[in-house]
Amino acid sequence: MLKAITERVSWAGKVDWELRRFHGEEYSTHHGSSYNSYLVRGEKTALIETVWSPFASEFVENLARAGVLDSIDFLVANHAEPDHSGAMPELLRARPGLPVYCTANGVKSLKGTYHQDWNFQVVKTGDTLDLGAGLALTFVEAPMLHWPDTMFCYLSGENILFSNDAFGQHLACETLFNDTVDECELFQEAIKYYANILTPFSRLVTKKINDVLALKLPVSMICPSHGVIWRKDPLRIVEAYLKWADDYQEDQAVVVYDTMWNATRHMAEGIAQGMRDARPSMTVKCLNAAKADVNDLITEVFKSKAVAVGSPTFNRGILRSVAAVLEEMRGLGFKKKKGAAFGSYGWSGESVKMIEEGLSGAGFELAAPGLKLSWQPDGSGLEQCLAFGRELAGNLG
Ligand code: FEO
Repeated sequence: MLKAITERVSWAGKVDWELRRFHGEEYSTHHGSSYNSYLVRGEKTALIETVWSPFASEFVENLARAGVLDSIDFLVANHAEPDHSGAMPELLRARPGLPVYCTANGVKSLKGTYHQDWNFQVVKTGDTLDLGAGLALTFVEAPMLHWPDTMFCYLSGENILFSNDAFGQHLACETLFNDTVDECELFQEAIKYYANILTPFSRLVTKKINDVLALKLPVSMICPSHGVIWRKDPLRIVEAYLKWADDYQEDQAVVVYDTMWNATRHMAEGIAQGMRDARPSMTVKCLNAAKADVNDLITEVFKSKAVAVGSPTFNRGILRSVAAVLEEMRGLGFKKKKGAAFGSYGWSGESVKMIEEGLSGAGFELAAPGLKLSWQPDGSGLEQCLAFGRELAGNLG
């Protein structure tokens, strides 16, 4: 079903209320998602993006039912990842020869994924596609936001930026617009998306946004490829991105741990209490890495200025849930955050040193010497945890 955004621009995507895991099993989507496709009708008609392959038939049938399938003149593929390109094979079987506008890297990705020699039209920043009736698309390459092939396009005549994944959120919504959904839920999904997907590219985010803002183009709406359209105060999400890209942190710390017989959990809770005692105004959260959703946990790390990471020693190493979080943090490349390690042990006690190595390798500055305690912490052990938490909080500046 097409939904009107303006008189000449319609949404033609798919709202996926059922989606709970994205990128395979890698990303949790508690609120579903959408694959947004947009139809722009001037004298010529452009379709911007398709949808994920499970919905390909439905997507193409909807275009046919709306009587627009045969009138599409151009397909714009801002990004080749399968959640946006998945319906291209079915669409291009229905419309063989349809020109596909994408970047040079887009051609590589699409050919590598679908092994088809479609009618590719390679575009670069500043190239335009005239749709007549006062409408034109201008392409802006945005490499690494978040793939090498990514581009945005700007529709003059309607002042709409089609930003692909940037400014998107995994949020199912039938009413399309940011002013029709719960704002807390919306911004939580937007920051989670940024933290888990865009953090490694923050320097490029800042540069690309500033380059686009310098063009002083009027922007009436930002249409991303997931979630809601930013219609009310559209630059608010742009300002949020500039803030998030600038080594974002709130007055928050998070204690991340896993535990076998609760000794490391008791340490975690003592450390968190010590931090709260030293900085009562700071938010301090305790998350068990084996039980918390890893993408939500990473979002809390993203918001934090410090992370205390704990694991008991297990097989002369650390528990796998903590190893996974350290690896995730390494890959995301957080900047200007502090860290510290702790853990209980019975015999050999390697975990704290291994966590410190993991934190340093992930770019965290160690803010306090690691704390390791043997067996269950007693009164004196818990006092050491409180002191460790106070010391860590005191070193946060
Ligand atoms: Fe929504 Fe990078 O795909």
